[in-house]
Amino acid sequence: MAIHSVLVSGSSRGIGLGLDLHAINDKRLHIVELDVSCDKSIEEAVDSIVGDKGLTILVNNAAILTGYDFFSKPDRKMINELMNVNTTGAVIMMQMFYPLIKRAADLVPGDEFSSSRAAIVQISSDLGSISIPKKSFTGRVKVLDYCMSKSALNQASRIIAHDVETDHILVTAVHPGWVQ
Ligand SMILES: NC(=O)c1ccc[n+]([C@@H]2O[C@H](COP(=O)([O-])OP(=O)(O)OC[C@H]3O[C@@H](n4cnc5c(N)ncnc54)[C@H](OP(=O)(O)O)[C@@H]3O)[C@@H](O)[C@H]2O)c1
Repeated sequence: MAIHSVLVSGSSRGIGLGLDLHAINDKRLHIVELDVSCDKSIEEAVDSIVGDKGLTILVNNAAILTGYDFFSKPDRKMINELMNVNTTGAVIMMQMFYPLIKRAADLVPGDEFSSSRAAIVQISSDLGSISIPKKSFTGRVKVLDYCMSKSALNQASRIIAHDVETDHILVTAVHPGWVQ
């Protein structure tokens, strides 16, 4: 059993650029334009690329960090825009690509959960951890809305992991560490 396809959101730079294997300089690499805060579906475009084998792995990597802390001027729009990309965007991506991921999972018999069968990986952050004490200004960056978005993403991941358990789709959230 081999990984057939991987979709990584937010791969124009940063971690996504590294994950997206841009070194693959042949027809296996497809660049698809996608704004995770926009409902215009790219599912059809991806469907035609991955075909009958479905989508093996969705990596929800796209995110923004705008710099907002408790003492910032109250700005509902700024908070909502970040939540829309980092959390709502990731949830909509999971919903949108669920049929293609399920297609990949259904091809494999048995009860196995694995990244080579079908998986959703959230690139989260330890800043989303509720058990790690922190302030909304770390001394270097303002992270109130960012922390909120990653906590909510972690919660969404746990819930959706149970929702798709009978489909044998693995759902996980990871902290990539400090990456520059
Ligand atoms: N770097 C770290 O130390 C670190 C630590 C913990 C967690 N993380 C997480 O790891 C992931 C990647 O971080 P990074 O440092 O590589 O970030 P980055 O360098 O800022 O790159 C973010 C990527 O997301 C894309 N993006 C932003 N808004 C988008 C949208 N609405 N639709 C689609 N793509 C969008 C950006 O595209 P544009 O170029 O078009 O803006 C860019 O390709 C994020 O989820 C971040 O929270 C990073």
